[in-house]
Amino acid sequence: MRLKIILMGLSLFCIGVLTAVTTMAQEKKEGEAWYVGSEKCQECHMDEYSEWHASGHPWKLRRGWQVKYTPLPLPKGYVWDDISYVIGGATKKARFIDNEGYIITTAKDGSPAKTQYNIQDGSWSNYHPGEKKPYKCGPCHMSAYSPVGHQDGLPGMIGTWVENGVGCEECHGPGSTHTYQDEPSKDTIIVDASGQSCGKCHQRSGTDIPPLASGGFVRHHEQFNEVDIGAHEGTDCTECHDPHKRADQVKKGCSSGDCHSEKEYVSFAKETIHGKAEINCIECHMPKATKSAIKTGRFAGDVRTHMVKINVDPAASMFKDGMLKGKKVVYSQGFVTLDFACLNCHGSKDKMWAAKNAKDFHKTEY
Ligand code: HEC
Ligand code: HEC
Ligand code: HEC
Ligand code: HEC
Ligand code: HEC
Ligand code: HEC
Ligand code: HEC
Repeated sequence: MRLKIILMGLSLFCIGVLTAVTTMAQEKKEGEAWYVGSEKCQECHMDEYSEWHASGHPWKLRRGWQVKYTPLPLPKGYVWDDISYVIGGATKKARFIDNEGYIITTAKDGSPAKTQYNIQDGSWSNYHPGEKKPYKCGPCHMSAYSPVGHQDGLPGMIGTWVENGVGCEECHGPGSTHTYQDEPSKDTIIVDASGQSCGKCHQRSGTDIPPLASGGFVRHHEQFNEVDIGAHEGTDCTECHDPHKRADQVKKGCSSGDCHSEKEYVSFAKETIHGKAEINCIECHMPKATKSAIKTGRFAGDVRTHMVKINVDPAASMFKDGMLKGKKVVYSQGFVTLDFACLNCHGSKDKMWAAKNAKDFHKTEY
């Protein structure tokens, strides 16, 4: 009975909100695996499915009608019938696609308007105001992306894909051979837990450069390069993250396994002023030095950085100028500075104060 209710609830949920498995364009070819869609995997992998469903990966692109009954507001002048798809809207921000497949950059009547909705504070930002912006974002947001053609035949949608969002098979490969066997086994499905497999999308201009920055913040989706240049260089994403779960459900805390000694860091930390105030490692070591949608202060964006090392020199700068493919860019240096690590909480103090107190931090009794 209970199972039945859960199943009923789930299927209703699926009809209502789920990232629809769009046209299964991929035809079955003799002897070749094809894509079956995440719904199919759910039949046998309920746990992974539910975790994935609660995370950001499936939510990258939803049809207007799937989002219509949620509280998400629309840009000026638009009604839901004008919206073919919503981009994101899971954690940080949402953008909207019109019925031609272009990302909306003005009010409905063509006058200037802010068209990116920021979830955390309900504000709106400019998104390429007035430009005609095709949706070219598929390689990192969709499953089994192909640059050929236009999804749904809409001119603004560049490329085609088999499922909206990052579905099971984007990471595990096409699943028909695995799924339609008398006995599905481990040998018929791909499992790639390397950092590179995540780095395909969690970077922006290549995996061999320092994380890019702009406007005084690290740019978002640079996690691969952030890890690589920071103190955790060489650590795969999956050592800390369960790839099916939300980011804040990391599978290992900093002191688990043989990482950071429970005795040296955690037990000691609990005795300190910060420990008693329940301020944990990531508040100082992974501050929101990265910006996706909004900033909430001079040194506070909305995405945690993975660079973890704190540079206690008050004169250090987190960023430096550089060149990339003949263009001037700003790179991150691979550490966080005291303004990001301390002054968001200690707003009335300055860097000199922070430097004095930060040096040999874990050897000092506060
Ligand atoms: C009919 C049931 C069934 C369906 C449908 C199914 N699987 Fe499986 N899957 C299994 C079984 C059984 C195993 C083997 C479990 C074991 O040996 O521990 C497995 C194992 C796996 C593994 C683990 C491999 C490893 O090395 O541990 C992955 C990943 C996986 N499936 C992904 C998928 C994906 C993605 C889909 C959808 C495309 C899918 N499965 C659909 C039954 C199914
Ligand atoms: C190189 C891969 C890549 C490309 C290309 C890319 N994105 Fe993303 N995007 C990501 C990743 C990874 C994240 C999440 C991690 C982060 O923000 O740090 C993200 C996050 C987002 C979010 C926030 C979602 C939410 O729920 O808050 C939006 C909106 C978004 N992208 C829109 C776009 C649009 C529009 C384009 C095309 C103009 C685009 N992205 C191109 C990788 C990419
Ligand atoms: C972002 C990439 C990604 C997506 C999306 C994804 N997986 Fe996985 N999955 C992985 C990786 C990587 C592992 C291996 C994890 C490890 O070794 O720590 C894995 C492991 C598994 C396993 C083995 C047991 C386990 O939990 O470690 C199963 C079963 C599985 N995935 C099924 C699924 C299903 C079903 C979906 C869709 C609902 C899905 N995965 C979506 C990357 C992904
Ligand atoms: C096909 C592109 C792609 C691949 C491959 C990919 N990601 Fe993502 N990832 C994204 C995008 C896009 C988002 C933003 C989703 C959102 O919140 O809207 C994201 C979000 C995340 C989040 C935040 C999710 C949340 O809800 O808190 C984590 C953690 C994450 N990815 C880890 C991984 C790991 C680990 C791997 C490799 C096993 C991986 N990703 C592979 C595109 C990708
Ligand atoms: C040393 C452990 C560790 C490694 C390695 C690691 N992460 Fe994380 N990651 C974390 C922790 C801790 C958080 C913050 C969780 C929280 O907010 O509670 C996080 C947060 C995130 C977020 C959400 C950021 C935000 O604030 O919105 C994304 C996306 C993410 N990680 C992706 C990745 C990817 C992709 C990789 C590999 C390139 C990776 N992580 C490697 C520990 C790690
Ligand atoms: C997440 C918020 C937060 C962060 C980040 C943080 N602190 Fe604190 N800090 C507190 C709180 C709360 C207290 C205890 C209440 C108080 O006295 O202000 C405290 C107390 C202190 C004290 C003792 C009281 C005093 O004002 O002299 C020092 C010294 C200190 N912090 C230094 C630092 C340094 C150095 C950093 C950066 C490496 C830092 N803190 C980062 C919240 C934070
Ligand atoms: C209140 C801020 C704050 C908190 C909370 C914090 N750290 Fe630190 N940590 C620092 C500062 C500042 C440094 C740099 C000290 C230096 O370079 O002299 C540091 C340095 C480190 C180092 C480098 C080696 C060393 O011993 O100096 C490690 C490893 C570390 N911290 C781990 C942790 C772990 C694990 C936790 C959680 C149990 C944690 N930190 C919590 C501020 C903090």
